[in-house]
Amino acid sequence: MRLLLLGANGQLGQCFKQVSAGFPEFEIQAYGRELDITQPGLVAEVLHDSYYDVVINCAAYNQVDLAEVEPNKADAVNHLAVRHLAELVKQQGGFLVHFSTDYVFDGLKNRPYLETDQPFPLNVYGQTKLAGENAMLAVNPPGLVVRTSWLFSPFSSNFLTRMRQLGATRSSIQVVSDQIGSPTCALDLAQAVFDIVSFRQKTLDENPNHQAWWSTQVCHFANKGQASWAELATEIMRLSELDCKVLPISTADYGVKACRPAYSVLDATQIQAWLPGPIRSWREALGGHDLFLTSPVR
Ligand SMILES: NC(=O)c1ccc[n+]([C@@H]2O[C@H](COP(=O)([O-])OP(=O)(O)OC[C@H]3O[C@@H](n4cnc5c(N)ncnc54)[C@H](OP(=O)(O)O)[C@@H]3O)[C@@H](O)[C@H]2O)c1
Repeated sequence: MRLLLLGANGQLGQCFKQVSAGFPEFEIQAYGRELDITQPGLVAEVLHDSYYDVVINCAAYNQVDLAEVEPNKADAVNHLAVRHLAELVKQQGGFLVHFSTDYVFDGLKNRPYLETDQPFPLNVYGQTKLAGENAMLAVNPPGLVVRTSWLFSPFSSNFLTRMRQLGATRSSIQVVSDQIGSPTCALDLAQAVFDIVSFRQKTLDENPNHQAWWSTQVCHFANKGQASWAELATEIMRLSELDCKVLPISTADYGVKACRPAYSVLDATQIQAWLPGPIRSWREALGGHDLFLTSPVR
């Protein structure tokens, strides 16, 4: 199967490249920033030049606070480019996997968010990601919008890598304790997407008219369990054997531009049915990849 990976040098893109070693049946063409997804002509050229069975879009404008002051830039990547990509993939006949966020929710619920819950983003980033979801649903190519949250991995700059860097040089650090979410290993997410694409192919081989796989579906992927940023930081320090005390602080005292949901745990029950094994907990995932926690901080 031919697979086109966009945004390949970001955190999740690098996880896809790493995990792809376990899926030799996929022939991967990967593009980073050099293929600017906001340039419709460039993306069209790539998709017209070759057929791709699967297109995975990891490109995104992810700077939650900066998006408040440059909403048009965020919208161009997270919304308008997604609509165009969905149109191209629909014309071509492939399967589009796109990612969205827990920040489409307002955080007022007191139980994990389901796919059917009403989104209500509190910040510009969440608004542009929701607009991207809705654009893809409106065009309706065969595909998945996978909402995920609080990604960590050994790649790029993310909460895990930042905490490890700070923990290596400081004796204490203040971390927000009044936001609760689902920390998620980006490597687990990439593995799950490969598994789902394989599962879809198997399902269609058995029943080519299986309707659900010919339209766009929204699903949630997150590791099991929940945590505050402070709890996650504490576990990172413990596993990394860093002698840095995590001091809980409120969101108000931390002071950032964009509002964030106080509670954004995702319910991933639906996606579980398409996976070969149970989704593990964030604690297990954090401790399980000896790629990073047992290696010294660089
Ligand atoms: N990170 C999280 O905690 C989190 C949480 C929930 C959902 N998500 C979603 O998960 C997906 C992957 O996130 P991530 O953590 O891998 O983000 P990331 O590390 O910021 O990667 C995004 C990549 O997209 C690239 N990019 C930005 N604008 C582009 C454009 N116009 N054309 C092509 N590439 C462009 C970026 O390049 P530059 O670095 O050069 O700008 C970067 O390499 C995104 O859809 C994100 O919204 C992430």
